Amino acid sequence: MNSKIETLKQKLELARIGGGEARIQRQHDNKKLTARERIDYFLDEGTFEEIGALVTHRTKDFGMENQKFYGDGVVTGFGTVNGRLTYVFAQDFTVFGGSLSETHAEKICKVMDLAVKVGAPIVGLNDSGGARIQEGVRSLGGYADIFYRNVQASGVIPQLSAIMGPCAGGAVYSPAMTDFTIMVENTSYMFVTGPNVVKTVTNENVTSEELGGASVHATKSGVAHVTEANDVACLESLKRLLSYLPQSNRETPVKLAFTPGDEIREVLEDIVPDNPNKPYDMHQVIEGIIDEGSFYEIQKDYAENIIVGFARLGGQSVGIVANQPMFLAGVLGVKSSKKGARFVRFCDAFNIPLLVLEDVPGFLPGTDQEWNGIITNGAKLLYAFSEATVPRVTVITRKAYGGAYDVMNSKHIGADMNFAWPTAEIAVMGAKGAAEIIFKKDIQSAKDPEAEWKAKEAEYAELFANPYSAAERGFIDEVIEPKYTRRKLIKAFAMLQNKEVNRPKRKHGNIPL
Ligand code: HXC
Repeated sequence: MNSKIETLKQKLELARIGGGEARIQRQHDNKKLTARERIDYFLDEGTFEEIGALVTHRTKDFGMENQKFYGDGVVTGFGTVNGRLTYVFAQDFTVFGGSLSETHAEKICKVMDLAVKVGAPIVGLNDSGGARIQEGVRSLGGYADIFYRNVQASGVIPQLSAIMGPCAGGAVYSPAMTDFTIMVENTSYMFVTGPNVVKTVTNENVTSEELGGASVHATKSGVAHVTEANDVACLESLKRLLSYLPQSNRETPVKLAFTPGDEIREVLEDIVPDNPNKPYDMHQVIEGIIDEGSFYEIQKDYAENIIVGFARLGGQSVGIVANQPMFLAGVLGVKSSKKGARFVRFCDAFNIPLLVLEDVPGFLPGTDQEWNGIITNGAKLLYAFSEATVPRVTVITRKAYGGAYDVMNSKHIGADMNFAWPTAEIAVMGAKGAAEIIFKKDIQSAKDPEAEWKAKEAEYAELFANPYSAAERGFIDEVIEPKYTRRKLIKAFAMLQNKEVNRPKRKHGNIPL
C-alpha cells in the first residue's frame, strides 16, 4: 500500500510542477503567476479541489508520445470564493504554451458541465498559445465543444474570463461569449489573427500590444470589460465582480447587511449645474446614491457617454445604466447603445434589478452614426430594456429628450418606478431647436429675429423644460428632491422585490443584431 501511495504522490507532484521549474521561472520572469498560483490566489484558502490532474494527451504524431505532462496544460476544479462555490479552469502556459488539445478541452468541458448542472459560476483563467498545433482538427473540435457549452450556459450561470497571457485565433471566441472579460495590462493580448498575418494580408505593421493589448480592447473595441495592472489585481477584480452576481439564474444576488441611517444625501443637491448646457460628472450622482464605495464599473474607458456597472443600494446588488453628460453631452450613439444593451440583458438574465440615471439630449446625429447603424444599434438598447423583467427604476436628473426619453427605461417600455428631479427637462428636443422649428415663420418675419427666437425659446422652455408635464400624465411617478433619491430608491426596490412578469411563450425574441 505504501509504495502505491508513493506512486500516486509522485504523479501528483509531477502534475503540480506542470512543464517544469525552468518554464515556471520563465513565467515568473514574464511577470505572470502560474496556473496553480492563480487558482490558489483566486479561491478561498485551502478550498481548491482538482479534477483531472492526471489527464494526459493522446497524440502520437510529431514525437508527442514521449512528451506528456500530467494535466495537459490546464488545471481544472472547484472551490469557493468568499464562501460561494465556484468552478475554475486555469491554462498552464508551462505545458505546450497552454495550448488546447482534445483532452485539455475535455477537462474544461467537464467543469463547465458540472457548473451548469449544479448552478454555480465558472471562471476561466486564459493563458494559451491557442490550438495545439500537433493535434490539428482534434484541437479545433475541442474549441467548438467549449464554444457550444458557452452558449448553452449563457444566461444560466455567470461565466467570467480573465485573459492573463496570449489568447489568439479562434480561442478568443470563448471569452467573447462569456459574460465578462478582464484583461491584464501589458502581459495579455487577444486577436483573431496575429501581427504576422496582418502584415501579410493588409501590409500593416503592428505589434501584439497595438493590435490586441488590454488598453486597445478597453478603449477601441470594447472587448475587455475591465483591465487590471497585474495578475493579482485581476484575480481580486474577478472576486469582486462575482460578489454582485447570483450563483445562477435560479437565484438572486446575495443581499448584504444594511444599517439604515444615511439615506438622505445633501451632496446630491449641488451636482446639476444651473446652466443646462454645462456638463457634470454622473459618477458623482452614482456615488451620492449608492452604498459607499460599492461601484464596480464595466467598460469604463469605452463609449464613455454611457456608464454601466454594479453597485449596492441598501445592501442589494443593482445594475446601473447612466448617461454621462461629461462625454458628448451624454448622447446615445452606436457604441454606447450596444454597451448599455448588453449590460441590461446580463442583469435581466441574472435577476439583478436595474437603476437608470438619465440625462440624455438624444441620439448622436451624423453620417458616421447613420452609416454605422445607429438605427439598429439604438434599437438594441430599446429592445433590451423593453424585454427586461427585473425591477426597473429610472431617475431623470436633467435632460430626457426625444427618442432617447423613450429608450432610457421610460414608463412606456415597462419601467416600474420613474422619478424626476426638479431640474428635469422632458421634451421632444431642447428649447432652442424646438423654437426654431415650430416658430420658424414668426422668427423670420420678426423685426428682430434673434430677440424673437429667444422669446419663443423661453416660451417653449417654460412649458416643457421641466418634469411637470410628464408628471401630470403619470409618465413620471414622482418629482423628488435630489437629497431624498437614495431613500426613494431603496424603498422602490424593496417594494419591487417580488415582481413577476409572465410573457407569452416563444422560442426567443429577435433582438436587432
Ligand atoms: C503547441 C505551442 C503552441 C501551440 C506555443 N507552444 N504555442 N505548442 N501548440 N499552439 C509551445 C512552444 O512550442 C513552446 O514549447 C511553448 O509553448 C512556449 O512557447 P514560446 O513560443 O516559447 O513562448 P513565447 O515566446 O512566449 O510565445 C508565445 C506565443 C507563441 C506568442 C503564443 O508560442 C506562438 O505564436 N504560438 C503559436 C500561436 C498560434 O499560432 N496558435 C494557433 C492559433 S490558431 P517549449 O517546449 O519550447 O516550451 C487557433 C485556432 C483556434 O488557435 C480555432 C478555434 C476555432
